[in-house]
Formats: sequence, C-alpha cells, structure tokens
Amino acid sequence: MTPELAPEEPLPRRLGRYVLEKLIGRGGMGLVYLARQDELDRHVVVKIVKADLAKDNPELVGRLRREARALGRVSSDHVVMVHEVGIDAGVPYIAMEYVDGVSAAALVKKEGRLPHSEATRIVIGTARGLAAAHAVGVLHRDVKPGNILVGRDGRVKLADFGLARLCDGAPDETALTGAGDMLGTPEFMAPENAEPGILDERSDVYSLGVTYYALLAGRVPFTAQGVMATLRKVLLEPVVPPSRHAPDVPPDVEAVCLRLMARDKRSRPRDAGAALALLTGQIPAVAPMPVDEVDQATVLVKDAQERREASRWLDKAERHLDEGFPGAAEMALENARQLQPDPERLGVLARRRFMRSRVPRGMNCLELDRSRAVALYVSIEPLELPPAEAEARARSRGERLPTASELEAIRRLRDVPANGFLTVKDPPPG
Ligand SMILES: Nc1ncnc2c1ncn2[C@@H]1O[C@H](COP(=O)(O)OP(=O)(O)O)[C@@H](O)[C@H]1O
Ligand SMILES: [Mg+2]
Repeated sequence: MTPELAPEEPLPRRLGRYVLEKLIGRGGMGLVYLARQDELDRHVVVKIVKADLAKDNPELVGRLRREARALGRVSSDHVVMVHEVGIDAGVPYIAMEYVDGVSAAALVKKEGRLPHSEATRIVIGTARGLAAAHAVGVLHRDVKPGNILVGRDGRVKLADFGLARLCDGAPDETALTGAGDMLGTPEFMAPENAEPGILDERSDVYSLGVTYYALLAGRVPFTAQGVMATLRKVLLEPVVPPSRHAPDVPPDVEAVCLRLMARDKRSRPRDAGAALALLTGQIPAVAPMPVDEVDQATVLVKDAQERREASRWLDKAERHLDEGFPGAAEMALENARQLQPDPERLGVLARRRFMRSRVPRGMNCLELDRSRAVALYVSIEPLELPPAEAEARARSRGERLPTASELEAIRRLRDVPANGFLTVKDPPPG
C-alpha cells in the first residue's frame, strides 16, 4: 500500500516500530493512522497527538495516556486491544489493534437507519465491551456510534477511551482542569452532565441508549446548535419514540432502547452489565412503557425546578442592584434568563439594571429609591485629605455631598465606613 499521508501533516514515516501508511481518522485529540508492523507482519492503528498540539495543550497528552491506561486495564473481545504506548521523536503514541471495518457512525451515514436486528447486535457487542470496562472501574464517557468499530467480519469493538475515567481514586486530570466534564459529545451525553456532580456507569448506559436510538432511527433524538442548547433539549424535550421514525421497530426493542436512555438515571440499568441483561432478554423487556407519561412528569418537575431556580437568580439580581453591583446583577439576570423566569419581574429588574448602565462607568452606583438612580462614589484618597480639600476635589469631578435623606438611604443599603468620605453624582439627564 502506498503511503497516503496528507501533505499538511508532515510526520515521520516511522514511529517506534511502526511505519505509518495512511491517515484514517482525525478527531478531538490528534490523528489516527493505519500503520504497518513488519516484524509481526500485521497492520496496527497508531494514534498520536501531534507535537505542536501537545505543546500547547498538555491535556491532550494526558488524554492519550489515560486512554492507554484504560485500554490496558480492560480486556474484552469487544474493546480494541492496546499493543504499546510509546514516544518517538517527541511524539507520544498508542499502538493498538487494527479493526478492518467501519465505525457504526459511518455505517448509519452510508445506509441510513439499520435493521433493528443489526442495530441490536451492534449495541449488544458494545454493551459487552462497556461491561468489561465497568467491571474494572473504567467509565468510557464518550459512547457513540463514531467510537464503535464494526469489522468487515462483523465483530463489534468499542474504541476511543480518550475521555475514559479510571475510578481508582487516582486524581483525574480532567476533573482537575475542569475541562473534562463537558468533553463528551452533547447529543449522546446524559442529562446529568448539565449539573455538576458525579457521573457514573449509568451515564455511559444513557449514551449507549442514545446510540441504540441513532442506529434504529437513523437520527439522534435531540440536536441543536451548541452544547448548552442540545443539553437543554436532552433535559426538557419529550423523546419521540424510535418507531415514529422506523415503524418496523418492535415494541420490546423500543422499550429497551428508551429504558437505557431514561432521563432519570435511577430508571436506567445500573451499569453496562445490567444493560446487557436487558438487551439480551435476560431481564424481561419492560412492557410497553408509559414513556410519555414519565417524560411528561419529568418535564413538569423540571419546569418547576427551573422556575424556582430562576426566582433565586432574580432575588440575587435584585440584591446586587440594591447593593450597587450592576455587573453582578447582569450576570444573575443572564442566569435567570437561561431558566424560566417570571417575565414581569425579569422586566422590572432588567429596567433597573438598564438605568444603572447609563451612570458613568467607574462609579459605584446605587439607587436610592426605585425611581431615581444616583451614582455613588466612596472616596478612598480623601481619607488622608482634610475634608474641605476632599470636598473641593469631589466638586471638581462634578460630584456633591449627599443630602441628609440620601445619606440615610445609602447607609440603609450599604456599609459606609465611619471615616469614609462620601460624595454622590447625579445621573446624566435623559
Ligand atoms: N483500532 C482501530 N481500528 C480501525 N479504525 C480505527 C481504530 N481506532 C480508530 N479508528 C478510526 O479512527 C476514527 C477516530 O478514532 P477515535 O479513537 O475515535 O479518535 P478520536 O479521539 O479522534 O475521536 C474512528 O472513528 C475510526 O474510524
Ligand atoms: Mg472518537
């Protein structure tokens, strides 16, 4: 086979004992090559992080190392086998078993939705690989059709453990950088990813369920522009059952698929092993489930939660406005807008916030009553100045001393240091 390295990827043709032949994948973390290992007369796959990428982003090398560790730990016919981890000419790489075939994503892209028996077979193979990972405390965290390899001979293997987390108590770099938690693929990410908290095996089970859905229906259940928008749908929108897109999907297959991707993780099988039992019929397929009612209830609960949460943000915004922190108020308002705020109250507070924004910048502003905004300037330097001089300075800045009632209002709203020198500035007209 002639080497087909793309010209924009200048690379050593050889890494360790492997001759790179062809770029076959390019993803979140680097490049995937088909390579040849002559001494054993076999093809392998070599996954690298390009040196320049690695330099700017040490996290990627961490991911590669984590992938190798996770793969090394899991042994299953349904997980790609790792041969070797190495570094050559500054390029870290993993060499692994080559699966001659296509990803399940490529399969769906080429053929549209798959016959349900084939979809089930692929999902069962994946569940076996995932169960082997869960059995040794490895979470995959990026289960999706693009990471499932289907060999020409029909073998199914779970790949791409680049986001895997080892639940062995060792510090997790992704958790430390805070970057890992949102690294999955939003369409396949479990709803609990929206909230900080501990992901567990059931999050992988959810992704497996969405994968099943995608293979059966030829499309993902929820999609939108951007991670947050997608997660919002994942959280809130009712699932259109796959049989709506693929009428020949039998009810028990559909029930299993929907059960795996239940919104509430407590309704899902507790790990991939339990999912497997469900998929292979060892646990009876749940009778045609009251999916719609369950979802409806979840949506109602979520709505109520969002309204409560929004009202807390509005309280915060109001407090910040009262205390004279328009920037903080704006952030709180923005958070409320993402949820389901009471529109009337949002309007009132947004108007108050708007009034603030017309006060000159650099001022510490305060509203004395709901109808009149006054910019407040708590001077620091004047502490060392004789009061008369401080006052003169303030006047030269267009400020004046507060009236007695203003001073009283100000003291009600915020701490004024006893020896602080306080001036106010009237908002510009209009
Ligand atoms: N062991 C393998 N055998 C064959 N093809 C592979 C193998 N590993 C990866 N690939 C191909 O490369 C693509 C990207 O690999 P993946 O491990 O998912 O990397 P990324 O982290 O970039 O997503 C896969 O979708 C698949 O097409
Ligand atoms: Mg991938």
